[in-house]
Amino acid sequence: MSDQFDLQTATVECVRLHDPASGLDGYIAMYETDLGPAAGGCRFWSYADGEDAKADAVRLARGMTYKNALAGLPFSGGKAVLRRPDKDFDRTALFQAFGRAVAQLDGRYVTAEDVGTSVADMQVVASMSRHVAGLPPEAGCAGGDPSPWTAQGVFESMQTGVAQVLRGNLDGLTVAVQGVGNVGADLCRRLHAAGARLVIADTDAARCFALAKEVGASVVGVEQIASVDADVFAPCALGGALTRDVVANLTARLVCGAANNQLASPDVAALLLERGIVYLPDYVVNAGGIISVSAEYLGEDAGHVGQRVAAIAPRVGLLIARAAAEGRSPAHVADEMAEQVIANAREMQPA
Ligand code: NAI
Repeated sequence: MSDQFDLQTATVECVRLHDPASGLDGYIAMYETDLGPAAGGCRFWSYADGEDAKADAVRLARGMTYKNALAGLPFSGGKAVLRRPDKDFDRTALFQAFGRAVAQLDGRYVTAEDVGTSVADMQVVASMSRHVAGLPPEAGCAGGDPSPWTAQGVFESMQTGVAQVLRGNLDGLTVAVQGVGNVGADLCRRLHAAGARLVIADTDAARCFALAKEVGASVVGVEQIASVDADVFAPCALGGALTRDVVANLTARLVCGAANNQLASPDVAALLLERGIVYLPDYVVNAGGIISVSAEYLGEDAGHVGQRVAAIAPRVGLLIARAAAEGRSPAHVADEMAEQVIANAREMQPA
C-alpha cells in the first residue's frame, strides 16, 4: 500500500510496511526526482503512532534528497522508518521482512544503517535484497559503518566554520556535543585531538560517562547541553534540536552537528540569523555517511569516498561566504543550491 504527498518541487511516495507476523510496521518514503533511485538509511525507533513515523520518514527523505543533490550523488532521497515494537520481537525476522519489502521495490529504494540499526541488521536485509549498503567492506572497496565518514565531514566543516566565523581554530574552544553515539563519539575524539574543550550529554548515561573519561569531557544533563557556555553547539542526537526556545538560549555562535533535520521548524533558520548564530546546514555537513554508502552500492573504491568527503568542508566555506554576502541564512542558500541541482537534473532528461 502506498500514497503520495506533494512537496515543493517533487513528489514523495510513501510505502506502508506492515507484517504482523514479524512486527514490521513503518514506512519507506521515496522522493521522486531525476537524480536517480531514492537512497537513505533505515531508522528503527519508538514512535507514538503511525502518523508520527510517516511524517518523520517524509521529512527525512526530503533532507536526503537535498543532501544527495548537493553532494553530487546520482541518487534522490529516501528513508525507511520502522517502529520499534513495544513487545518482545525477533529482530532477524523483522529485518528479513523489511528486506523483502526493499526487494519488492526492485532498486527504486536503496537502504543502509541509520539511528537504531546496525551493520548486522543490514546483513539480514542483504539476505533478501541486493539494494542495501553499509555492509562489511571487501578489500579496497568502499563500505562498512558510514559513521566515521560522517564524523570526518562534520569535523572538517566545523574547522571551516570556526576559521570563517570565529576567526581562529578549535584549539581551546568549547564545543557542546548533544548525543555521543556512533558519530558524536567519533566527533568528540577528533575535537579532543584538535585541542577543543568538550561538554557532552546523552540520554545513555553509561555511554556518556565512558566517553567523558576517555576525552576529558564535562558531562551535563540532556536538558542543559544546548544552553551551556560554548563556542560551538553540535547536535548529534535526533532531529528537532533547534527549537525557538533552544535558539533563544544558545550562547554558541556556530552550530555544526551530525543530526538530520536539526531545525524544529523552518522559521528557526531566520531566528538563528537574527541572533547572529551561523548554522551550518545539517544535510551539507553530514553527507559523509551517504557518500560512503552510495560508493559501496555503486562498487566504487574507498579513495572515491575520501575525495568526496574532503569536498564537504570547502562547500561549507562557500556557503558561509555566500550567505554572509547576501545577509541570508546558510540553510536557505543551501536549499536553493540543492533545488537548482534537482532542476538541472530535470532539464537533462530527454523531452
Ligand atoms: P546513534 O544512535 O549511534 O547515536 C545517537 C545518540 O544520541 C545515542 O547515544 C542516543 O542515546 C543519544 N540521544 C538520543 N536522544 C538524545 C537526547 N535528547 N539528548 C542527548 N542524547 C540523545 O546515531 P548516530 O549514527 O551517531 O547518528 C546521530 C545523528 O546523526 C542522527 O540524527 C543521524 O540521523 C545522523 N546521521 C548519522 C549518520 C551516520 O553515518 N551514522 C549519517 C548522517 C546523519
